[in-house]
Amino acid sequence: MDKENRIKPKHHVAPKTGFLNDPNGLVQFKGTYHAFYQWLEEVTPQGAKCWRHCVSKDLVHWEDKGIALKPDMWYDKNGCYSGNGIVFNEKIYLFYTGNVRKENGDRETYQCLATSEDGITFQKHGPVIYLPEGYTAHFRDPKVWKDEEEDIWWMIVGAQTSEKKGNVALFWSEDLYNWNYKGNLLPETMNWGYMCECPDMIRLGEEYILIVSRQEKKIENGIEKDSCHAVWMSGEFSKEKGTFTPYKEGIRVDEGFDFYAPQSFVDENKRTLYMSWMGGGEYDYQMSQLSVNDGWLHSFTYPREFIYKNNWLYQKPIKELQSLRNDKIEKHIENEEISLEVRDYYKEIEFILDDENEFNCTILGALKLHYNSNDKILNIKRLNWLTGEFDEKYLNVNESLKMLRVFIDNSSVEIFINEGEKVISSRVYFQDNDIRINSNGKLKLNLWNYKGENINE
Ligand code: FRU
Repeated sequence: MDKENRIKPKHHVAPKTGFLNDPNGLVQFKGTYHAFYQWLEEVTPQGAKCWRHCVSKDLVHWEDKGIALKPDMWYDKNGCYSGNGIVFNEKIYLFYTGNVRKENGDRETYQCLATSEDGITFQKHGPVIYLPEGYTAHFRDPKVWKDEEEDIWWMIVGAQTSEKKGNVALFWSEDLYNWNYKGNLLPETMNWGYMCECPDMIRLGEEYILIVSRQEKKIENGIEKDSCHAVWMSGEFSKEKGTFTPYKEGIRVDEGFDFYAPQSFVDENKRTLYMSWMGGGEYDYQMSQLSVNDGWLHSFTYPREFIYKNNWLYQKPIKELQSLRNDKIEKHIENEEISLEVRDYYKEIEFILDDENEFNCTILGALKLHYNSNDKILNIKRLNWLTGEFDEKYLNVNESLKMLRVFIDNSSVEIFINEGEKVISSRVYFQDNDIRINSNGKLKLNLWNYKGENINE
């Protein structure tokens, strides 16, 4: 097995070469799924980003379609930044932020529109929103959705107010070209850090859920650091006042080490699906990843479905992933330690636990899970490629841990707790070929090896 095959995810959206960040413009158009991502030809986090385009019939196999939006106009010359897509009147409408740097280094921002009739070529229509008063130029990442009841369109834009506080600006439109400013969506009495990036409003049944990728400063060991996390909150959306009042402060969408800027969309089967950037973090942390030597960096998560029940946002890996299952291994483990030798790094592992259990699992030398049914805490350790040490997390499990589903795709790991009440997504560079499990109670293991075709070649 060569080295590259053990790093590049086989079934996740990842760039052939270059740098990937946020998912953009996710839509299903005439049956075909379209995804775009923030892309740079060079493997480096900052620069004049493009929208790179890929398409899929089944959300599992993706075909690269090259660059859809390039930073080549006066209003987007320093980057076609993030935004979303909608399908209307047989066309795709893409909303994105035109990022402009003036000679003195100051930033300008324009919320722009591009459309496509064939889903392949995109025509730019220029800015549809100029920066309103009351905000700095950190104003970006439009998300548009249709309000069927009012027969209007809403747009939210991630914002920093003139007081350098994070918030979300709300607009509405009747025709997608002319937009009216409504005001700040979020209560100024709550903490939204210094900037809210990539806002997303989701309607699940009667419930509105708002997601923002919140940037704030936190003191860690006496040093001030940026802390950037995607958080969700349910709340009351008052259309009249143009406000969203969260019932409580944000809850992490994903508890992993590498997760930021998720974006949702509703597909033709009315499922609310999303993908996210599996990346982020400080410059050294990103640039020391092993994939950089192979000329690419970062990927998306697998597509997931959002479900709201019992006042909680659950996440499920899409059922289409089951088409990747190849051969299956089943094991019953009780008061023993087993070791499974594996031949590759793309598989799905399901742990079904008895109520009384303490178990340890070491996956391929770089990921360790420990759970004890007495304290109901799941401990996750991931080998950090920069420090050479294990980073760790302790997660409370609601009632008890009944099921863990672990999706491994070369350097990518996604772990779903129980019915998807919590998810942990991380980049992991594995070290060996061994999965070791040690269980004190009863544990059933289902392991599916995934098919080996590579969507990113
Ligand atoms: C989030 C983000 C967005 C911006 C884009 C630029 O990761 O900073 O706010 O539009 O990335 O690539």
